[in-house]
Amino acid sequence: MTIKTQVGIIGAGPAGLMLSELLAAQGVESVVLERKDRVYCESRIRAGVLEQGTVDLLDSIGLGERLHREGLVHQGIYLQFNGNRHRINMAELTGGKCITVYGQQEVVRDLIKARLEGERPLFFEAEALSIENLTSGGNRKPQVTFMHQGRNEVLECEFVAGCDGFHGIARAVIPKGQLTTVSREYPFGWLGILAEVPPSTDELIYSFHKNGFAMHSLRSPQLSRLYLQVDPDDDIRNWPDDRIWSELQIRLGAADWVLNQGPIIDKGITPMRSFMSSPMQYGRLFLAGDAAHIVPPTGAKGLNLAISDVKVLAEVLTVNFTSDNHGLLESYSERCIRRAWRAQDFSMMMTSMLHLDPRSDSFELELQRSRQEFTVSSKAAATALSENYVGIPFDSRIMMPKS
Ligand code: APR
Ligand code: PHB
Repeated sequence: MTIKTQVGIIGAGPAGLMLSELLAAQGVESVVLERKDRVYCESRIRAGVLEQGTVDLLDSIGLGERLHREGLVHQGIYLQFNGNRHRINMAELTGGKCITVYGQQEVVRDLIKARLEGERPLFFEAEALSIENLTSGGNRKPQVTFMHQGRNEVLECEFVAGCDGFHGIARAVIPKGQLTTVSREYPFGWLGILAEVPPSTDELIYSFHKNGFAMHSLRSPQLSRLYLQVDPDDDIRNWPDDRIWSELQIRLGAADWVLNQGPIIDKGITPMRSFMSSPMQYGRLFLAGDAAHIVPPTGAKGLNLAISDVKVLAEVLTVNFTSDNHGLLESYSERCIRRAWRAQDFSMMMTSMLHLDPRSDSFELELQRSRQEFTVSSKAAATALSENYVGIPFDSRIMMPKS
């Protein structure tokens, strides 16, 4: 069977789902293919910090209701160095900008619900296997072959959006010579837990300790999300719950502060990497989100970057379909990449300031300590951190130097 649509979207993560709904709001048709099932997509625990631009975009398509009811608006974060906790008042330093703590899987749930209730096409357990005709002109339209319910099906479209994450097929179909990739691996990973216990903090705590980084985040008044820096090759079986809590207590410990403990309902270890591919387009294929770039989670930028990519992509595709202006498509990659590099720099800065790098010598450790002190004692440094953390404006054209 051949299904026809305007935009074929591979992947029902935040990038693919958000793109499909932004396009629908503009009257552009799309079909989303997702290789996993709905339960898997909705329960995968990921990050949880939304920039204002992300919140505004969800509002713009009518998806802000639960987010505003259940999301937690934060005006600052805590940075902690060897037991000394400092508050960065981000709202005060950025003219009132805040972040909203709301789990990525809640965003995904809201998007899936809207799509299915609107009876717009989204196929689960539909794995894209190949993408053809991306650069051929004439009548040969791009085709995505996918496997659904044991049968090979074809999705024929005008454009393909590769929103299929870091391990997807979209980036891989771009010929080697047409794509540049650069990356950094880190000698640490994050052990993340979700615990049924009221958070022990009102705002996120990022803590550097001589044993390594730790972080306290939250999901609701009853649910805490916490992380520990561990070896990337460590096995989660080496971390029974008691060991996790005692290490969190050590690394997050501060005067007159108690860490609440409770049942751990999810735990896992994720490696960290920085990765950029460019350009983010090839013929009629556009990459968005993790398919194009990965940032280490310390800056809370991954989800927001995926959303800002698809905002631009929805805009250029809509202009293409609804006007005679077909040139805007060419600007997609450049506009996204500028913003992505800003997020890369910020994420790496936060990562290197807050983690214990086993390769560091005493010179580097002193530099790290100096940067930590400066960040919390200089208004200029704290402002720079805050500007990046709450999120630079979604449209990177704003950042272009004036000529
Ligand atoms: N066919 C169909 N679906 C696929 C295929 C395929 N061949 N390959 C991958 N997928 C699906 C995955 O199952 C996943 O649901 O694509 C989706 C990609 O979603 P994400 O990995 O969540 O990526 P993205 O939407 O770009 O969101 C980025 O997720 O990893 C976090 O920190 C990251 O917050 C950021 C966000
Ligand atoms: C989270 O809440 O999961 C979270 C928050 C901030 C980060 C990373 C993850 O930097």
